[in-house]
Amino acid sequence: MSLRLDSKLPDVGTTIFTVMSQLAADCGAINLSQGFPSFDPPEALVERIEFHLRNGANQYAPMPGVPALREQLAAKTSRLYGRNVDVDSEITICTGATEGLFSTIQAVVRPGDEVIVFDPAYDSYEPAVTLAGGITRHVALAQQEDDFEIDWEAFEAALNDKTRLVIVNFPHNPTGAILSPADVDRLAESVRPYPTFLLSDEVYEHIVFDGVQHVSLLSHDELWKRSFVVSSFGKTFHATGWKVGYCVAPAALTAEFRRVHQFTTFTVVTPIQHALADFLEDSPDIHLALSEFYQQKRDLFCRLLEDSAFSVTPARSTFFQLLDYSGISDEDDTALADRWTREIGVASIPLSPFCAAPFEAKKLRFCFAKDDATLTEAAERLRTL
Ligand SMILES: Cc1ncc(COP(=O)(O)O)c(C=O)c1O
Repeated sequence: MSLRLDSKLPDVGTTIFTVMSQLAADCGAINLSQGFPSFDPPEALVERIEFHLRNGANQYAPMPGVPALREQLAAKTSRLYGRNVDVDSEITICTGATEGLFSTIQAVVRPGDEVIVFDPAYDSYEPAVTLAGGITRHVALAQQEDDFEIDWEAFEAALNDKTRLVIVNFPHNPTGAILSPADVDRLAESVRPYPTFLLSDEVYEHIVFDGVQHVSLLSHDELWKRSFVVSSFGKTFHATGWKVGYCVAPAALTAEFRRVHQFTTFTVVTPIQHALADFLEDSPDIHLALSEFYQQKRDLFCRLLEDSAFSVTPARSTFFQLLDYSGISDEDDTALADRWTREIGVASIPLSPFCAAPFEAKKLRFCFAKDDATLTEAAERLRTL
């Protein structure tokens, strides 16, 4: 008998984040590719982890998450987005946003169901849809001058009675696009006739610039009823390696989410959950400083590139800056990101791997969640182009 394992994900290779980070390490390049900060998490938070590690919080946490942490999140959800959620039945702590996204997709999507994503789309969505037997329909974001937004006509043309789930990600990685209150109303109007759920990936909810406020699907009375809203502490507390996130959804949706969650991961790292609960209780508004912190980084990086050959439109959110290289090269973005990592020693992320159709715009994504010296050195190298 010959034993052969046919891949369930034959088109999935190594993610571009791993590829570019590895290349950066091999070449000794400055790594502005993968989205992780070069700063430490708040000291008071680290101290609370140490405390809980030494004081017995080392066994399984409850399956939905430590109650004190869910209470803090419920309070935040009410304060920020005006949504009062039930601590016991509407919030689940999960293993990073990634698990929240995966468990939602497994809970909702059945074989043959269609799922709409907006390109460029974060790369974990489609494989999870494929594993659930679903079909991913890609709708490209429209580019208006240097901004990206939902192409409502294309979106509405893609919606149909088989659309089981629409995945939205605003603040958007990699373009920094955000939703306005009018966009959210339009989204509600578009999905109203269809039996479709929404999965809102809001991991950059606290990094929005120029005084603009993030509009969460949690704040919309109609959309909330059909939404799973996923976020993560990784981006907010400079702690991407901890992989602690959460999913907020109405009780009936959360019940289905938990059926999957309990067998995907069961529970999430206990001492960190307790520490996050303490920290949020002591500093409930800590996230308010985050936009200002990253706006300074964005402004520094953009200022340093002012006299470069790139065309630069400052990002509206997240810690990623797109640089338009059409004035320098007409090479394809993936080849160019590879070449510049080797030749000038700055690694970035191309956008093509996040799109089903060829991505025409000549743009690369650079992560500016780095110390000023690293950003200055990277910009100096980019200015030589
Ligand atoms: C849009 C988006 N969603 C989800 C994630 C994953 O978050 P986590 O590390 O909490 O799983 C990331 C991480 O980069 C992201 O950029």
